[in-house]
Formats: sequence, C-alpha cells, structure tokens
Amino acid sequence: MIKDIQNEILRLKKEKNIAILAHSYQGREIVEIADVAGDSFQLSLAAKDIDCDTVILCGVHFMAETVKILSPEKKVILPNPLAGCPMAEQVEPVFVEHFKKENPDYAIVAYINTTAALKTVCDVCVTSSSAVKIVQAMEQENILFLPDCNLGDYVSRNVTGKNFKFWQGGCPIHAVVNAEDVRKARELYPNALLLSHPECVPAVLELSDFIGSTSAIMEYAKKSDHKEFIIGTEMSIAEHLSYECPDKSFYILSKKLLCPNMKLTSLIDVHKALLGTGGEEINLDDDTINKARKCIDEMIRLGN
Ligand code: 13P
Ligand code: SF4
Repeated sequence: MIKDIQNEILRLKKEKNIAILAHSYQGREIVEIADVAGDSFQLSLAAKDIDCDTVILCGVHFMAETVKILSPEKKVILPNPLAGCPMAEQVEPVFVEHFKKENPDYAIVAYINTTAALKTVCDVCVTSSSAVKIVQAMEQENILFLPDCNLGDYVSRNVTGKNFKFWQGGCPIHAVVNAEDVRKARELYPNALLLSHPECVPAVLELSDFIGSTSAIMEYAKKSDHKEFIIGTEMSIAEHLSYECPDKSFYILSKKLLCPNMKLTSLIDVHKALLGTGGEEINLDDDTINKARKCIDEMIRLGN
C-alpha cells in the first residue's frame, strides 16, 4: 500500500514537472520520494537551483516560504497547511524595529526558522550548519541573534571578536532535553557517541561528543568508525541513519525529541498536493520577497 502510493507520487511528479523537497525530520516514507532531502541550508540551495515548475515542500511553513522567496516564479506548496514551526513565530517584526532604533550599531542575525515578514527587517539569515561561518565572516562586531538563544550561545562560543545579545527564544523540542537525559542515555548505551544539534541547551552540548546540524550529524555518523550513536536531535535522524547504516546502532537521546509539526505531513497530503486537491499554496507580496531575499542571499553568499 505504502509502496503503491509512493510509486503513484513518483509517476505524477515526473509527469507534472514537480520537485519534492523534504527536510530530514520528515518520516522515512516521505524522504524516500523526495528529489532532495537534507537540512535547512541544503534545502535553500536546492530551492534556488532546482529545475521544475512547482515545488512541494515537505517540512514546515517557514521552509516553504524560503523556497518561494528564492524561486518566486515557481508555484510552492506546503502539503499540510497546519505544519508550522513554533520557534518561527516567536519574534514579531515590530520588536526588531524597536531594537534597531535603540541599538543602531547592532546587526540582526536571524535563524532561518523565522517568518518571511521577520526576515524583511533582518540583515542576514543563518542555518544551524552555516551560522558559525556566517557570523565570523560578518563585518559588524555587534550582533543580535534571534530567536534561538541556544544556537546563539553555541555560535558565540565558536567565533571571535564579536559582541552578542540573544533573543530568549528556542525550539520547544530540543530545548527541553537536559543533562539528566544524557546521563540516562549514557548509562543505557555506555559505548555510544552522543551527537547533538546546537538547538539543544548548553548543558547537553557540553556533554556531547559532536555538535552539528542534522546533515552534519548524519555525515559524522556515516563516516565514523564507531558503531553506536546516541542521536541528540529529532528522532527521524536516528531512523534514517538506521536504514542507511544497517551495520551501526542508533539510539534516540530522549523520546521528547519528536517534532509533531514535522510529522504532520503524510503521503496522502503529498498525493493531494500533486493532484491539486490539497495543500497550501505559498503566496508572498513582491515587497516581502525582495526584502526577505536580501537576508537569504546574504546567507548564501557568506555561507557557501
Ligand atoms: P537544520 O535543518 O539546520 O539542522 O535545523 C533543524 C531544525 O530544527 C529545522 O526545523
Ligand atoms: Fe521548529 Fe524545533 Fe520542530 Fe525544527 S524541530 S520545526 S525548530 S519546533
């Protein structure tokens, strides 16, 4: 049944010149039918370059907006309109406008997990895989990093010569995992390496053997000679790695690491989006696209 619907999706997307991009937090059945699956930075690059008329983005709302900003001529569809990222809604543009008036010497660095409207008032976007490189390469010394203070803290520890202010936001999934979860996992799996995402709190990162974005974690695990890993990010990464490296063992750090928004999109949603009977088409006005694009282009320029 799953294979049948996957085959029908593959047939339809070819027939209609539609590309499917999927974030790695999507389930296995979605990643298997994607043209590109990866982390937020990889999806942004793919959105810019992919040759198609329509993009179906399997992930959350801000990711579909990013595709639209980078490819305004394409139709962009989010298969399940309820799939949003709570962190992306944590900052309103008016707060940033106010901050800029009070702190004119600060550059505004926005995690890509923000709305298109917010990106219009920021200087540069970053993703978890590109943040350190981009912030280090920026000319400005004073940085407001938003919304994720855990990623911000991680970046500040890995760059030199910058002053930071942090927005006190974050990912409600990664931020609730704590040092006690690490202690329990280490007790259960004493021979495993802990690979964590920088959205986790500093106390978890300090106990980790490797810190990186979703794709950096996957790459590390695949290349490592080690055989056992505890995965300190959304649990789908452990699932994908188990399929891709059957000779190794992957354990989730905590059952709290399940993002319900990332799991909303089903194969049926994707099928309906392909048929034109479901999903949300992303529409942004030209002014928002042009202003938000500067922020994303700057990310690609400094991060590549
Ligand atoms: P990356 O894709 O940059 O690893 O970010 C993870 C995430 O939480 C996306 O919502
Ligand atoms: Fe947002 Fe966190 Fe879910 Fe990523 S894992 S989509 S940051 S809530």
